[in-house]
Amino acid sequence: MLELVTDLRRVPPLERTARDVGRLLAAAAAKPHLTPRLPSRPGSYTRTCAYSDDRLEVLLLNWWADAASEIHDHGGQHCWLVVLEGRLRVDDYVRVDAGDIAGKAVLESVGSRQLGSGDLDVRSGRYDVHRVAAAGARGHAARVLAPLTRVSRVRPHRAALPAGPRGL
Ligand SMILES: [Fe+2]
Repeated sequence: MLELVTDLRRVPPLERTARDVGRLLAAAAAKPHLTPRLPSRPGSYTRTCAYSDDRLEVLLLNWWADAASEIHDHGGQHCWLVVLEGRLRVDDYVRVDAGDIAGKAVLESVGSRQLGSGDLDVRSGRYDVHRVAAAGARGHAARVLAPLTRVSRVRPHRAALPAGPRGL
């Protein structure tokens, strides 16, 4: 993980191609990691910040078996998530309302994918709505966040639904 953070600090995600960021994360997933030492929360998941500055944020996530995030998007951020251990399920949604009523969003499920060790999930658009769950057993993942533009700052997650639950 130190090597991943060092590489990303040297050349941040927005100065790399998406393929290059994916290659870095796949390489990190292939190495022994420290996720068994991550804090855990029965029935839920934890997020541990490995590194953060104005250009990027690296988090390590630890899901309890069958725990799921809330449905969320990442607002003004790119998000790359790689599975380090276990299996995760990603549920995708599209927003089917006009987005013109504050505090309300109408979503439609458009499918799910199973991710195993080394598999990558990438998010980059506004209203790229999804949910992540541990599929049957505990799961560990690393996530890299970067602002959509170089002038933005990395911010905490923005919920897809203004009056709804917080994002992952
Ligand atoms: Fe997410």
